[in-house]
Amino acid sequence: MADTRTFLITGASSGIGAQFARAYAQRGYNLILVARRLNRLQDLAAELTAKHGIAVTCLDADLSDRAQVKALVARIREMNLSPDGLINNAGYSLAHTFASTTTQQQMDFVEVCVMTPTYLAREFLDPMLARGFGRIINVSSMVAFSPGAAGHTLYPAAKAYMLKFSRSLAAEVAYKGVNVTALCPGSTESEFQTANGMAAAVGTSPSRFVQSAEAVVEAAIRANEAGREVIVTGLINKLAVFLMTYLPDGLVTPLIRWGAKKYQL
Ligand SMILES: NC(=O)c1ccc[n+]([C@@H]2O[C@H](COP(=O)([O-])OP(=O)(O)OC[C@H]3O[C@@H](n4cnc5c(N)ncnc54)[C@H](OP(=O)(O)O)[C@@H]3O)[C@@H](O)[C@H]2O)c1
Repeated sequence: MADTRTFLITGASSGIGAQFARAYAQRGYNLILVARRLNRLQDLAAELTAKHGIAVTCLDADLSDRAQVKALVARIREMNLSPDGLINNAGYSLAHTFASTTTQQQMDFVEVCVMTPTYLAREFLDPMLARGFGRIINVSSMVAFSPGAAGHTLYPAAKAYMLKFSRSLAAEVAYKGVNVTALCPGSTESEFQTANGMAAAVGTSPSRFVQSAEAVVEAAIRANEAGREVIVTGLINKLAVFLMTYLPDGLVTPLIRWGAKKYQL
């Protein structure tokens, strides 16, 4: 409990982000929690403060809005907070095809899943380098390794960006005490499928393919602490990534497109 590190977690109001908050709180770290649903963050903060005696700051921001992202960084600095750890977790997917969504929906998606994580990493990296300590986890997905399919059009691209961005940044800062990891989970218990409408449309995946948020987060933190650049969580997901990487594209692409058909709205 002597450790007074502060970790910023985006998308901490549910799912994987809320679990990151629980996991770092358990380690005695102070937290800055960010999402749009402030009441959810405040409930979680009350629970974690009571249980672990840590300081939790809750900040609401719509991360698709650059002005709000800039204001968020300014608010954090005004409070004299400087994150030692940044968990770029907030994200979602648009289950429809590109043509059946609006330009604004797609641009908002890119802001939340690509631009904002990049912005926050750049804004908070310098103090981490100056301290010689930093932890960055960028939440990607195993679909970063997939050839892409109809529906969720930009999702594999955004997650591939998070994967490649993490690897390059890790190459630059790994020896300066800043560990950068791309977290690549497969299907994970959260509100993800409810938020994108898939749960209502096709139900949830068979449970043997779904990991708990706790298992995903513990694997991520272990990998990040060990300085690993990429973590694919779960044996089935590791096998799937291996097959997507090493089987011929002519076999993988039709298989993925066939399998993904039912996940398109
Ligand atoms: N669950 C899976 O199967 C799975 C698999 C691979 C990767 N992932 C990735 O894991 C990450 C977390 O997702 P999850 O599964 O935990 O889903 P989730 O339960 O739906 O959580 C998504 C989080 O992102 C936040 N968020 C979404 N849009 C936002 C916006 N415009 N501004 C601020 N916050 C926003 C939500 O908060 P508010 O709504 O309160 O703003 C929520 O806290 C995502 O990056 C996702 O792509 C998930």
